[in-house]
Amino acid sequence: MARRKYVVGNWKMNGLHGAIAEAEAIFVAAQAHSAVDVALCPSFTVIGAMAAVARRVKGTVGGQDCHPAASGAFTGSVSAPMLVDAGASVVIVGHSERREGFDESDDDVRAKGEAALAAGLSVILCVGEPLAVRESDGAIEYVLLQIAGSVPETFDPQRLAIAYEPIWAIGTGLVPTLDDVAAMHGAIRGALADRFGAAADEMRILYGGSVNGDNAAELLGAGDVDGALVGGASLTAAKFLPIVEAAATLG
Ligand code: PGA
Repeated sequence: MARRKYVVGNWKMNGLHGAIAEAEAIFVAAQAHSAVDVALCPSFTVIGAMAAVARRVKGTVGGQDCHPAASGAFTGSVSAPMLVDAGASVVIVGHSERREGFDESDDDVRAKGEAALAAGLSVILCVGEPLAVRESDGAIEYVLLQIAGSVPETFDPQRLAIAYEPIWAIGTGLVPTLDDVAAMHGAIRGALADRFGAAADEMRILYGGSVNGDNAAELLGAGDVDGALVGGASLTAAKFLPIVEAAATLG
């Protein structure tokens, strides 16, 4: 089935309120590409202000993480209903920088995904192998275990996207071969079809890791790739829009 292309910017721990003009430029230009869904995920502190702009110019804003509980004594954390309250409609869960840097397990990621879906958010759930696993030819097996452990039981293909992000490709300028990307995306879809049936065909699988304006057309054209999760190249309109344009061309 035809799946709409989806290009998501993950601003990580970058971007003060002064950067919202850049987001506005991205949202406005993205309107010209109606076949592509575009979202930006800034830090919690600017979600409210960016969402106000997004309401005006028709953009989509997301969070980069959420707590599995809706509220409670969790100092420093932000819940899924809080993201909704701030104006977000999507959230990234299970990014490798959370899995590795904050010791998040597959169970944690699944609980966050369940909480986000219950709050009405769409979810981008990240998986991906470290370099040693890729070099030992175990990448597909490793990622399918992450998929088995972290994809919520309340599978909703319209509101759940998977982002395959090899850890060694994030922020390094390295990317897997197109054959490796296609094989991984096909394996992920196959595993979810085994578990959830034909609905897995509707779910979008994004590639992430060193996507830029020069390699986007190639990566987005690989088999079973429905979009991109973009870090460094999502911080400015000048770098991000060529990726959106590449997605629109492949439409
Ligand atoms: P990168 O990051 O595009 O800077 O490699 C991707 C990501 O971590 O989502």
